[in-house]
Amino acid sequence: MTIDESHLTEGMATASNIRVLFGSETGTAEEFAFDLGTALQSEDYACEVTDFDDYSSADLAAEELVIVVTSTYGNGEAPYNAEDTYTWLETEQPDLNKLSFSVCALGDTGYPAFAQAGKDFDRFLGECGAERILPRFEIDACFDESIEPFIELVKNWLSEHGARFKK
Ligand SMILES: Cc1cc2nc3c(=O)[nH]c(=O)nc-3n(C[C@H](O)[C@H](O)[C@H](O)COP(=O)(O)O)c2cc1C
Repeated sequence: MTIDESHLTEGMATASNIRVLFGSETGTAEEFAFDLGTALQSEDYACEVTDFDDYSSADLAAEELVIVVTSTYGNGEAPYNAEDTYTWLETEQPDLNKLSFSVCALGDTGYPAFAQAGKDFDRFLGECGAERILPRFEIDACFDESIEPFIELVKNWLSEHGARFKK
């Protein structure tokens, strides 16, 4: 029998998958998210990088591990593509007690609300009952800081706790 998978959509949760979600307007956080995804895939982890805009927020409850990589805009607000999920988490406060997560927050220390969107995602997810696997990691774009140290932290965590995410 052939299974019809035509109903499966991009961004749908699958078992033991690492989901990297990015919030980005000018591409830095997007590039970093793909750097992270490529690094994890090259170590044979099942990992998918997804634009918040292509993601249904309600699917968060079915994920095992989500890593948010997001910049900040306005006066400490989420980038456009992450606004819907940001607002949904803040207002709906879903039960995410099966989810593990980490947040990489990009910003510019020249702004008073440095990396605030990432700080808020980190707080919202924690308040929804998700388990924080690593402390929030902040990147100051003003100083061209790299995501490599964060990638190393994630890989170290996975090497100890992430065997189920191996393909
Ligand atoms: C109009 C504008 C507003 C910004 N507001 C903030 C802010 O409130 N806090 C912050 O930390 N960074 C702020 N930034 C800096 C961006 O978050 C930073 O440049 C980031 O690296 C952009 O990432 P992206 O290319 O993924 O969108 C702002 C940048 C712009 C252009």
